Amino acid sequence: MKNKWMIPLSFVGGVLVTLLVPILVLALGAINMGADVKPGLIERTIAPWAVDRSVEKRSPKEKNPYAGEPAAIATGLDHYRENCVICHGAPDVAAAELSKGINPPAPLLGKEGDDTPDGELFWVIKHGIRMTAMPAFGPTHTDEEIWKIVAFIRHLPELTAQERASMRPQDGAGAHHHGAETNAVPDKAEQPIQPDHHGTP
Ligand code: HEC
Repeated sequence: MKNKWMIPLSFVGGVLVTLLVPILVLALGAINMGADVKPGLIERTIAPWAVDRSVEKRSPKEKNPYAGEPAAIATGLDHYRENCVICHGAPDVAAAELSKGINPPAPLLGKEGDDTPDGELFWVIKHGIRMTAMPAFGPTHTDEEIWKIVAFIRHLPELTAQERASMRPQDGAGAHHHGAETNAVPDKAEQPIQPDHHGTP
């Protein structure tokens, strides 16, 4: 009879400890929430996996209705230049300075051989990713515009020199770039972000 409560009590005790320890850790402010701190192992492995699973489950399965259409790609470029290049950059186009302080970092998009389905790109652009710097563009862009941005992302590996130049800051506020129109190959010094260094803290 004495043992009757042992199992339920240790179960309740176990649950309390499992709940209280993490709450205590959070309550003591033990976790540094600064964006300039390298995330721990759990955050680096489990969080991206959970995001992938969530996006996969929710994304539309259809193909991009505008895939490969030159007019759609051109419209997509306009949106990309205005809304995306600051964080993501493009092949041979540097992202803005602020992109270096983003954690998790903004990946270079449209890598050669990227097999992310169209629908997943669409979903991420429309809804964003919570607790990262990736904004939702659904509130400001129609589905049609978002599909055109997806069409442009597919075109990123084949950017023309002219398209690249059009995405770099021109004369004006903050621009310290000379000869963007005449010289398609950028100065090394003006390319702070190389794809390989992009993700390292
Ligand atoms: C303020 C910075 C910022 C802006 C602006 C931004 N993004 Fe992002 N984006 C991010 C970050 C950070 C991530 C990574 C989120 C993560 O790790 O889960 C991301 C992730 C993505 C992904 C998922 C990539 C992958 O491999 O999983 C896509 C697609 C994307 N962004 C497209 C865009 C497009 C298109 C635009 C413009 C319409 C845009 N982003 C604008 C910061 C930004």
